[in-house]
Amino acid sequence: MKNDRVNIDGYGDNLTINNIKIGDLSPEDHENIEKKHGGNNYSPLENVVVSHVKDSSTLICRKPGLTNIEKYVESELLDGLCCYSAVNQGQLNQTIVDAVIHHLSEEKLPTVPRSIRHKYMSAFLLAVSSFTKMDRVVPKVAGVESWELTFKLCRRWGYDIKKIPQDKAIIVGATGNFHGRSVSAVSMSDDPDARKSFGPFVPGIELVPFNNIDALEELFDKKGEYIAAYSVEPIQGEAGVIVPDDHYWPAVSKLCKKHNILLAFDEVQTGYGRTGKNFAHQLYDVKPDLMGCGKAAGGGILPISFVAGRDDVIGTLTPGSEGSTFGGYPLASVVGIYAIKALVEENLADNALVKGRQLMDGLNEIKNDFPDKIKEVRGKGLLTAFEMFDEPYLDGHHISVALLNQGIYAKETHHTTIRLAPALTINETQVNNLLNGVRTVVKEL
Ligand SMILES: Cc1ncc(COP(=O)(O)O)c(C=O)c1O
Repeated sequence: MKNDRVNIDGYGDNLTINNIKIGDLSPEDHENIEKKHGGNNYSPLENVVVSHVKDSSTLICRKPGLTNIEKYVESELLDGLCCYSAVNQGQLNQTIVDAVIHHLSEEKLPTVPRSIRHKYMSAFLLAVSSFTKMDRVVPKVAGVESWELTFKLCRRWGYDIKKIPQDKAIIVGATGNFHGRSVSAVSMSDDPDARKSFGPFVPGIELVPFNNIDALEELFDKKGEYIAAYSVEPIQGEAGVIVPDDHYWPAVSKLCKKHNILLAFDEVQTGYGRTGKNFAHQLYDVKPDLMGCGKAAGGGILPISFVAGRDDVIGTLTPGSEGSTFGGYPLASVVGIYAIKALVEENLADNALVKGRQLMDGLNEIKNDFPDKIKEVRGKGLLTAFEMFDEPYLDGHHISVALLNQGIYAKETHHTTIRLAPALTINETQVNNLLNGVRTVVKEL
């Protein structure tokens, strides 16, 4: 009898898919399989495959063997990126892991749909509304979904409450934005790689230059009656950690109030202690009307996102207008609650402030020692980046590879900028190790 079913056996390195044992694959084999069977929509660092984690900030990775590239050698990597801020609480944070194990083995409620209530949803809503200081919360899964729902809510509030004529609502975004990969998110994007051949795009979007209050005022003066919201990252992460002037957000908040326009922050990357406050908007003493969060909301264990916001804005939703099979399902609710507990009880926002200062001071020292190579150091808390001058020999990808050889994982963004955003559990010695690696690499360029 022909056996054409997929055969799956074992765990870890003994995991075998149709007679191919994962532990036997070299880094090159992994790359070839990805190139053949994957979407080729990433260009990961070459010749390195992560196997497992050693502690909250240390990855164990496999590189080609020195004598035999068919085999691999294992080495440690200090994680300078923590999954683009999805693992703020550190890998395998004990509070979250214990909660998951306890929940699955003792409490026993993995999954039910939203059409029947489960008791952990109330707990999740209480925890998140208290943590965010917002009236209402709607759970989603990926970060982009939180932004997508924010977008919909802004439009609905625009029609139902602000009384913008039907189908005329405008959502304003900022140049250089990144909100994810859905059609609406790439409709707002001005990155040609993210948009190419994905049109036609969602209408009713206008962009203003980030951190330019005059441009925003001009647009609001011209089209304010049709504008439902300014939907924007408080600090632009993917654009290369672009930090606005201190007075920008207070001025924006005032302008939005004047024109009855919502301020909707995408805190998917900046939230959960990353910038030294629980949410980046708290750095500027402003409060958004809506806020999308993701990444660290799931503590690096599950994809969890949500929109939190004002009662009258989220209150425009009605049964049937929005939903998600896995948004706030019982296991996600539990992980989401303990992700907050870990963040709060371990004082991780405070640690981000202290270690962020250490990291930024160290990066600025390196910049001062190599003023012809590093153009700028930017950041808030542990969301930091250094930008190189735009010269071929200072290429960001080359720097990422060189850092890898120093035992550090960081990745360039936009060719010239290297982002450093480690777990908020990082200690002083690890920050020094990051800085020593950067100094060595920059010196050798
Ligand atoms: C600000 C911001 N919004 C949205 C997203 C999209 O999140 P996800 O990849 O989980 O959909 C990201 C991801 O990097 C982000 O940085």
